[in-house]
Amino acid sequence: MHSTTRTGGRDAAAHPGPETVRLTAVRRLYGTAARTVKALDGVTASFHAGTLTAIMGPSGSGKSTLLQCAAGLDRPTDGTVVIDGTDLGSLSEHGLTLLRRERVGFVFQAFNLVSALTAEQNVALPLRLAGRAAPPGLVRAALAEVGLADRAGHRPSGLSGGEQQRVAIARALITKPAVVFADEPTGQLDYRVSRQILGMLRGLVDDHGQTMIMVTHDPVTASYADRVLFLADGRVVDEYAGTVTAELVAARMTALEAAPC
Ligand SMILES: Nc1ncnc2c1ncn2[C@@H]1O[C@H](COP(=O)(O)OP(=O)(O)OP(=O)(O)O)[C@@H](O)[C@H]1O
Ligand SMILES: [Mg+2]
Repeated sequence: MHSTTRTGGRDAAAHPGPETVRLTAVRRLYGTAARTVKALDGVTASFHAGTLTAIMGPSGSGKSTLLQCAAGLDRPTDGTVVIDGTDLGSLSEHGLTLLRRERVGFVFQAFNLVSALTAEQNVALPLRLAGRAAPPGLVRAALAEVGLADRAGHRPSGLSGGEQQRVAIARALITKPAVVFADEPTGQLDYRVSRQILGMLRGLVDDHGQTMIMVTHDPVTASYADRVLFLADGRVVDEYAGTVTAELVAARMTALEAAPC
């Protein structure tokens, strides 16, 4: 059985790679002047190559908003987001679209594959959208990396949930992005397959120096991270780094849900 304490060989918290994502005093307000929701209320955080960070917090604490602002899917009301040296606030909508396409990878809970396309075509899609060549060798190698070399011609309907998520991971990595954002990547998978997918994500971080930021509700999922940021009411209220255990994370979450502070 999987231990809830991860025992990775590296000490990413002590020896982080270069900073790839930085948020500075990010606020995101919704609503009108009369009634404003502070979805994010001054978040400052940096994320380094070769690290996996989990974002946790009670429902409504701002996790999805943080992910969307950090990934350039939404614009903060105030503050700055820098990815790979580029200030997202300096980009036009078109520039932002290009940056997302080329420098950011996404893995979603619902896989979000294109049902009419084969696994191979799904993985090639980000390159095609970017107007780049999608050499079959490169795409096949990406599928082989996630253990799906023999499924290249299958459509999503002919793949299991875990296989679909592996295709989505290959797709997220095909442009060699600076950062991969994952939103509940194992939310639709059973325990065993979840552990496989998390092990795979962990390997990408450890072996390829990938920067990864993952939103999750699940303390066991968070235990695969090097660092856990806890959000409450749109602020980072706590942070665990180093040996992150599911038990510690669960205890902190229980306390936050009882009294966010
Ligand atoms: N488009 C929007 N318009 C108005 N308010 C919004 C919008 N999106 C989010 N909010 C509000 O911002 C706050 C943070 O929402 P967010 O979706 O980031 O939370 P979350 O931590 O992801 O929650 P959950 O765990 O339920 O997914 C909530 O109060 C939410 O109601
Ligand atoms: Mg959410």
